[in-house]
Amino acid sequence: DDDGPPDGKALGFDSVGKSLLDNVVLPAGYTYQVLHATGDRLDKNLTPYSNAGAEADDWSRRVGDHHDGMDIFYIDRKGRFTTKETDRAVLCVNHESSADAHFFHPRGQTSGGQDGKKFSQFGGWDLGERPELEVLKEINHHGVSVVELTKKGSTWSYKLDSTYNRRVTAQSPMKIAGPAAHLKDIQALLVTQFDPTGATSRGTLNNCGHGKTPWGTYLTCEENWAAYFQMPKGSNPIDTKLSASRARYGVARTPIAEAATSASTQGWYTPSDSDDRFTRWNVAAWGANAAEDFRNEPNTFGYIVEMDPLDPKSTPVKRVAMGRFAHEGAVCSIPQPGKPLAFYMGCDSRNEYIYKFVSAAKWTPADEGRGLAAGDKYLNEGQLFAAKFHADGTGEWLELSIKDPRISGYAAYPFANQADVLVNARHAADAVGATKMDRPEWGAVNPKNGEVYITLTNNAASLRSPTTVDAANPRAYEDIDGRRGTGNPNGHIIRFKEDRSLASATKFTWDIFLFGAEEDAGDANLSKLTDKNAFSSPDGLWFSPASGICWIQTDDGAMTDESHCMMLAAIPGEVGDGGPVTAQNRIGSVTGTQKTFMGALLGEARLRRFLVGPAGCEITGVTESPDGKAMFVNIQHPGEGTPALGAASAFDLESEWPANQGYGTAGRPRSATIVITRKDGRVIGL
Ligand code: FEO
Ligand code: CA
Ligand code: CA
Ligand code: CA
Repeated sequence: DDDGPPDGKALGFDSVGKSLLDNVVLPAGYTYQVLHATGDRLDKNLTPYSNAGAEADDWSRRVGDHHDGMDIFYIDRKGRFTTKETDRAVLCVNHESSADAHFFHPRGQTSGGQDGKKFSQFGGWDLGERPELEVLKEINHHGVSVVELTKKGSTWSYKLDSTYNRRVTAQSPMKIAGPAAHLKDIQALLVTQFDPTGATSRGTLNNCGHGKTPWGTYLTCEENWAAYFQMPKGSNPIDTKLSASRARYGVARTPIAEAATSASTQGWYTPSDSDDRFTRWNVAAWGANAAEDFRNEPNTFGYIVEMDPLDPKSTPVKRVAMGRFAHEGAVCSIPQPGKPLAFYMGCDSRNEYIYKFVSAAKWTPADEGRGLAAGDKYLNEGQLFAAKFHADGTGEWLELSIKDPRISGYAAYPFANQADVLVNARHAADAVGATKMDRPEWGAVNPKNGEVYITLTNNAASLRSPTTVDAANPRAYEDIDGRRGTGNPNGHIIRFKEDRSLASATKFTWDIFLFGAEEDAGDANLSKLTDKNAFSSPDGLWFSPASGICWIQTDDGAMTDESHCMMLAAIPGEVGDGGPVTAQNRIGSVTGTQKTFMGALLGEARLRRFLVGPAGCEITGVTESPDGKAMFVNIQHPGEGTPALGAASAFDLESEWPANQGYGTAGRPRSATIVITRKDGRVIGL
């Protein structure tokens, strides 16, 4: 079997220990280099990165912040897309957030902001205006970077002045696309000052997980975009239906109180600026001054955005048919000629859903390399479903259609038409009774058998208490060692097999592949993890076609006192390999009553910790060269825990990576893409 190790064979490296070092730790025999980091220029006319907040508003030509999902696209000698390995490629990297924007301003931030972070030395937006330059820099930290990579020997590097180099940001023009029969209705919901026809919009936000299409385009997924909007104090009220829509998505719908001191938004709205780069984030304005009416701006985010990485002049396209929610990722089924394609998608919030989009068009291998034209063929017409997991180990896909009386007659949100269903997909999934999951994150498809894996990163005690568990989200455990509350703080990974392995199936069977836990968590350690493979809060997920290994990345808060976030390798089995329901796969000791289905225990041979990151980081985003010998991994927000500067003259840095390893100017930590290779040059992980 040249697709990887047969199930049951041990992984080919020794597990790395938990680590609190401010570096990337790898198994013996492996090494890494930094490929690019936040602030690196894509154009030699820019100054090298200062790493001291000295930059002007030139971030639309620099590598953005918070590296996240990514993928690699190979180019042949004529500059065309190829699935074959060459020494030339473009790497697309998502830049999720500027939540650590204090590292990009000379004096850091001192008040307000997402994650309780602090914005500017001039005060948060509720206390006073932020400087325009800060806002513009942050707007341009977001989005996607496309950079050309070249390989010399076995060493990859990025090319400074490639014509492929590109940044897409929160200001870049986008096309709006959807099913032909509903496009006019979609556009009516997306009318903005920028485009009164609703045919285009501005920008992409909070680009988290990603997808790669079989025709060679990149999908970037808009996740926690809702927090970017605000209604300043004194705003006029919005109507009941819009308020119900916004409530379900967490978008501002009431004016912030006069006395509020902590903002829940980025603070990008600067009241004295009439420039709509700033005013568009204020989504309150109504009527009196039409030029200040940005009520529909939030409707322009929350999509799967398709980009052609090999055509830097092409306009990215928002694929509304795939629904609007907090898109984590979009992973494609194994393409079968003559059969529809499915894209599996998580909605990343606690108690949200798993979705799939099934294309109306049937896969034609000749569409490989056809770019966004192929995207128009496969990603506009199709069906959107939400998953319902049953207690007997089966499940079904519930179509989100206005033809369903549960949707057309839904009291909590009166849908006008199918466009409204797509744009308010969370409400539609509520209406049909999909299963609320423990925060769906990335998906991955096992290239061997097409089974779909989705990480469920964690859930809180208030939402997943012992009385609210179900078979697919079965764990809500009590405090064990004084550090955890009830809930599912360490998360799990669910997997399912489509009926007859068809992407278009409406039924599936499922089990739980792994439960995160600390090794000393007693009954809650259902997967019997040890200190060599204990993990918490699975998030990034990817199967290597070369090795068959399932790579699991963590974004954890519950275990970071013992180890920084990490990446593990697993040799997967298949759905049902834990055997029939028995006393052992009932987990009554944790929840009292709940039954679930567990995959076979992997043990230390088939589940090992491969990488631990620097302080404060999340490990997210992974891909490989097709031969499996070079692995690209993203280190997101090292030093995230660094406190605001306040009156101090220098940051008390939680991390100094990657400068502490010789990459770039010393000082503030930076997100980065690293390339991992084996010193003996062989396939990673085996
Ligand atoms: Fe952006 Fe769901 O992590
Ligand atoms: Ca993440
Ligand atoms: Ca996460
Ligand atoms: Ca994070």
